[in-house]
Amino acid sequence: MKYLIGNHKMNLSYAELEKYFAELKPIAEASDNFVGVCVPYVYLPLASTMCKGTKIHFGVQNMYYAEKGAYTGEISANMLKDFDTQMVILGHSERRSIFKETDEMVNLKVHKTIEAGFTPILCIGETKEERETNQTNDVLKTQLVGGLKDVSKDDLGKILFAYEPVWAIGTGISATKEDAEETIKYVKEVIAQMYGIEDLAQIVVLYGGSLKGDNVDEILSQPHIDGGLIGGASLKVEDFNKLIAYKG
Ligand code: PGA
Repeated sequence: MKYLIGNHKMNLSYAELEKYFAELKPIAEASDNFVGVCVPYVYLPLASTMCKGTKIHFGVQNMYYAEKGAYTGEISANMLKDFDTQMVILGHSERRSIFKETDEMVNLKVHKTIEAGFTPILCIGETKEERETNQTNDVLKTQLVGGLKDVSKDDLGKILFAYEPVWAIGTGISATKEDAEETIKYVKEVIAQMYGIEDLAQIVVLYGGSLKGDNVDEILSQPHIDGGLIGGASLKVEDFNKLIAYKG
C-alpha cells in the first residue's frame, strides 16, 4: 500500500471538482492504495459531501494555529472540523517561500492539527541552490527539528512527512529515484534518531515534485518511499489514475 495524495493547490472550479470526485470514486474503490485529495478551503463542503462513504480521503492545504480571533483571512481547526476534514498539508514550500511561513509557525500548526485530530502532512525540502551547495541534509534537519519541536513520540506516528525538493515542484523534472530514495532514507534516519526509533518503516515519508505516470513506478518502488504528494498530475482523474494504479 502506498499513499497517493493530490495537492490541488489553487486550481479547478467547483463544477470541475464535482465531476472529478464522481470520476475518482470508483477508482479509489478499486485501489489498494490510500487515495487522498487536498482541496482549497471553499470546496470543503463539496468534498465532505462527495467523499462521504467512499474510499477518497480528503483534506486541505493549510490551517491557522490560533483557536479563534482577529486573524483576517485565516481558517481555524474548528472550522475544518465542521466539514470532517481528515488531512492538512503543512509547511508546503509555496507557503514557506511566498507566504513566509517559518519552521516555528509550521510547528504551531503541527501541534494544532494533531490536537484537532487531523493528519498533518508535514512538507520539507531544499532549494536548488541548497542542493548544489551541499546543504540539503542540514536544511532538512533544521526543518525537521523546528517542525517537530515538542511533538511527542506518540504524536509523531500521526504525521505523514512529504519530502519535496523545491526545484522539482511543478518543473517537470523530478528527483532521480536514487536521490529521492537516499534523501528520504536520510529524513527517516534523522527522525528515528530524534525519537529513538529503531525501525525506519514506522516513519511514513512521501515524495513530491513532478511525480507522474511515467516516473511513478521507478520512484515508488524504492524501499523507503511510502507514496507521493502530487500536484500537477493530480488535477485530472485520468492522470492521477496512472499513479493510483501503482502496484508494488
Ligand atoms: P507537482 O507538485 O507534482 O506539480 O510538482 C507537488 C507539490 O507541490 O506537492
